Amino acid sequence: MTLKKIPYLIAIDGPAGSGKGTIAKLISKKLNLNYLDSGAIYRVIALGATINNISSGEVTKLISLVGSINMKFEGEDVLLDNKVITDKIRTSEISKFSSEIAVHSKLRDEILSLQRSFYHGNGLVAEGRDMTTVVFPNADLKVYLDASPYERAERRYKQLISKGNSVNIQDLTSEIEARDKRDKQRKASPLKIADDAKVLNTDDLTIGQTVDKILAFII
Ligand code: C5P
Repeated sequence: MTLKKIPYLIAIDGPAGSGKGTIAKLISKKLNLNYLDSGAIYRVIALGATINNISSGEVTKLISLVGSINMKFEGEDVLLDNKVITDKIRTSEISKFSSEIAVHSKLRDEILSLQRSFYHGNGLVAEGRDMTTVVFPNADLKVYLDASPYERAERRYKQLISKGNSVNIQDLTSEIEARDKRDKQRKASPLKIADDAKVLNTDDLTIGQTVDKILAFII
C-alpha cells in the first residue's frame, strides 16, 4: 500500500482495552512507519517513581525523575536505566499509578518533545489518550477507537492471563472504569474525541477488520 504523502502521521486515541496498541503496531508494520506507545512512557515514569518512593502527587519530584532516568524503547522491549522492564510496567498497580501521575499538566509538558521525536523518517503511528488532540493535532489521520466496557475488560483479562498474571475479571472491570473516568475527567489533556477524528467501535470487529477500516481511511 502506498501512502498519500511521506512523512505520514496517524494518531489513534481511545480508552484502555480499546485495541489501540495491537492495531497501531500492526498498521505501523504494514506501512513501514515508526510506532509510539505513549502510555508506555507514563508507565515507565510510574515504575521509576515506585522504585524511588515518589508518590503520585509529588509533581516536582516526578519531573526531575523524568530528567534523570534513561528510558529506551527497543523493538518490543522497554528499558529503564538499561534494565528490561517490559512486563513490569503492565501490572494493575502500574496501570493505576500511571493514570494518577498523568493528571499533571507540567509532567505532560515535560514529555511532549520525547513523544514528538518519534515522528521522523517515513512517519509515525502514535497511540494514547491525547495523540489526536494535544501531541499531534496536525496528524494526517486521526482515529478514536472505542469498545464497550465489558469487551475492553475481557480483552485486557485475556492479555494479562496470557502473560502469566493472575487477575479477576470483576476487579479488572472496576479498575478499567476508574482509570477511564480519571483519564476522561482530568483537566490536563483529557481523553476525548477530536472534532476531526474518525470514530470506530471495535466491539464486533476483529483485529484484521479494524486494521482494514483504518487503512481504508488513508486511501
Ligand atoms: O495506554 P495505557 O493504558 O498503557 O496508558 C496508561 C495510562 O497512561 C493511561 O491510563 C493514561 O492515564 C496515561 N496516558 C495518558 N496519555 C497518553 C497515554 C497514556 O494520559 N497519551
